[in-house]
Amino acid sequence: MARAADPPVGSCVMTTRPDFSADRGLWSLEGRVALVTGASAGLGARFVRVLQVAGAHVLATARRGDRLDELAAECGERVETMAGDITDGGHRRKLAERVRALGRLDVLVNNAGISDGGPIEDQSLDELKAVIDVNLVSVLDICRLMAPLLRKAPSASVINVSSIYGIVASRAPMAGYNATKGALISLTRNLAAQWAEYGVRVNALAPGFFPTELTGFLTDEELAQRIRTRTLLARLPEMEEIDGPLLFLASDASSYMTGQVLVVDGGWTAV
Ligand SMILES: NC(=O)c1ccc[n+]([C@@H]2O[C@H](COP(=O)([O-])OP(=O)(O)OC[C@H]3O[C@@H](n4cnc5c(N)ncnc54)[C@H](OP(=O)(O)O)[C@@H]3O)[C@@H](O)[C@H]2O)c1
Repeated sequence: MARAADPPVGSCVMTTRPDFSADRGLWSLEGRVALVTGASAGLGARFVRVLQVAGAHVLATARRGDRLDELAAECGERVETMAGDITDGGHRRKLAERVRALGRLDVLVNNAGISDGGPIEDQSLDELKAVIDVNLVSVLDICRLMAPLLRKAPSASVINVSSIYGIVASRAPMAGYNATKGALISLTRNLAAQWAEYGVRVNALAPGFFPTELTGFLTDEELAQRIRTRTLLARLPEMEEIDGPLLFLASDASSYMTGQVLVVDGGWTAV
């Protein structure tokens, strides 16, 4: 939440009692509007559920409209869908129009993402450009288009879904993925700096190995075991273990946090 002035020195120690009551609404998104990209599967579908349960009205987008509709039906209320390709500028503009019609945008989750693979010399330029288009260009443009609405919101939060592979290199060759996920972290810091004066917070989420379509390689038990062995908590995550970090960044629970990367990887990058 945007706060104009510093509190008197010492006041928080002397007077403020931690308050997690529903009345204070620290973790509540009631009355807020959220946009989630890449919402038809995996983490994005989970993010829609989390934001909706926390009280937000969620606009969910991805190419597979049938999957979005199933998700909206499952949620029951406050989830609307708009199917389309995030690399299509026309679709991005339609999303912005819809958000303008909703009147506000409080939470933006730039989640749509794809990966590439193979030694860079074997990759085509088109393959690399396709990854950059989904993972980076579309995020830049969505942020550009949504900026006026985000600035108007009383306590907007942007969450760019990066990866541990925005921080460290993957052993498997995926140059486009590594490059774009690293770039998202830089973009996060730059937009945090640009929008701080408007009270818009911008943070990145860097997950480890959650079981989704993107991480289909986890069905290879030998590989999964190698990941467990390399992870401090010595296990793969449950899908719902992303809920808390996402809600933390989306809500006023993280009101003094911007330009940061929240890593959710069981300690993979800690050692
Ligand atoms: N799973 C993990 O452990 C993990 C770890 C680190 C980072 N991440 C990041 O988390 C995000 C979600 O990953 P995930 O694992 O949930 O992947 P996923 O299951 O493959 O889901 C990707 C989502 O992105 C959408 N998408 C892909 N290309 C699109 C396009 N051109 N236009 C519109 N939507 C598009 C897909 O929907 P449609 O196919 O219906 O369009 C889908 O909803 C990604 O940015 C990924 O890099 C995931």
